[in-house]
Amino acid sequence: MRFDVISVFPEWVASVTRCGVTGRARERGLMSLQCWDPRCFTEDRHRTVDDRPYGGGPGMVMKVEPLRRAIGAARGADPRPAKVLYMSPQGRRLDQAAVHDMAGQSRLILLAGRYEGIDERLIQLEVDEEWSIGDYVLSGGELAAMVLMDACARLLPGALGDEDSAAQDSFSTGLLDCPHYTRPEMIDGLEVPPVLRSGDHGRIERWRRKQALGRTWMRRPDILAQQELSQADRRLLEE
Ligand code: ADE
Repeated sequence: MRFDVISVFPEWVASVTRCGVTGRARERGLMSLQCWDPRCFTEDRHRTVDDRPYGGGPGMVMKVEPLRRAIGAARGADPRPAKVLYMSPQGRRLDQAAVHDMAGQSRLILLAGRYEGIDERLIQLEVDEEWSIGDYVLSGGELAAMVLMDACARLLPGALGDEDSAAQDSFSTGLLDCPHYTRPEMIDGLEVPPVLRSGDHGRIERWRRKQALGRTWMRRPDILAQQELSQADRRLLEE
């Protein structure tokens, strides 16, 4: 999967492929990233990428032309068609189902804005989708683009050490994750639940499912309300 990111902080964005799962995905040739700095697509001496907003008010607005040229260069760097995703708090809220769809694309162009925002006409002309990573405001779209790339990278076949771990993630089952434990068995009077040491895989699976259901019910009833629960799940919740 190929990502192109348009950002005035290309070094920062590129750091995502230097460590962790995204780093490994790149090393294994599962993912590539090229960053495009709109400053390189300006024509004035000061390499201006922003200007004062029409109508007045605080902050600066990113100009259309440098961003548009940067997007054009990114598009042209690979013959495969690519959607342009603009990271912004005004966008649709990212969730695991959307990440799954994105990870199925062969390439994506991510646009990370700065300042008060970008000229609306750039969105009309070049942007296919607008995505938010949550209801809070970051000082730019870079971290949001990195979040999106990380979430996609771990779904690419071969990116994770244990092939099963993405399938068992929170949300991939439509529920929050169950608790996890490792050695030692006892810490400060807190014991690993005996069922996990029983070796009875059927009981362990049921316990995990019940924990996931219980946690989702307690912490995110909104998610549970969207699920079609099986008879077995309903029984587990009522036990
Ligand atoms: N840029 C600034 N805040 C953002 C957010 N919450 N999500 C995506 N992009 C952003």
